[in-house]
Amino acid sequence: LVASLERVDQTYIMVKPDGVQRGLVGEIISRFEKKGFKLTGLKLFQCTKELAEEHYKDLKGKSFFPGLIEYITSGPVVCMAWEGVGVVASARKLIGVTNPLEAEPGTIRGDLAIQKGRNVIHGSDSPESGKREVALWFKEGELVEWEPALVPWLI
Ligand code: PPS
Repeated sequence: LVASLERVDQTYIMVKPDGVQRGLVGEIISRFEKKGFKLTGLKLFQCTKELAEEHYKDLKGKSFFPGLIEYITSGPVVCMAWEGVGVVASARKLIGVTNPLEAEPGTIRGDLAIQKGRNVIHGSDSPESGKREVALWFKEGELVEWEPALVPWLI
């Protein structure tokens, strides 16, 4: 009931090509499911260079930008939209900091990755980015609005 009074946000979560190649998709989805957030979009997708550049446009001046685009387009990614109160910040906690060597054990990057440039997952950094990125990666008909059954432990 408390949750219903607060703002519901959305976040864009993406298993990057290394996560797909390493067979980590199920493990990663499972962490968000177990936390209790609501999945509203999910697809395996081969991203174009144009889309990758649009997604990471704020990083265009960085030295690692070309390598980042090459990495993200090197194989399929798994695109997800998750919804819930506080989902953006909570997802960032589940994911861990950018450099996997500094990420806490128990986080996705802390448990499953080593390299900054191969850090298995992306998560939106603000509710505004969440909205923008979900709209960028999903077409309207690909998102599903649904109401989970009312179970006491999720209220
Ligand atoms: S920065 O420089 O502070 O703006 O970068 P940061 O916020 O740490 O990261 C922004 C995204 O760039 C990715 N990143 C990299 N990719 C490849 N190689 C290197 N060296 C590298 N450094 C940062 C980082 O993972 C962030 O992408 P997402 O998809 O949001 O995790």
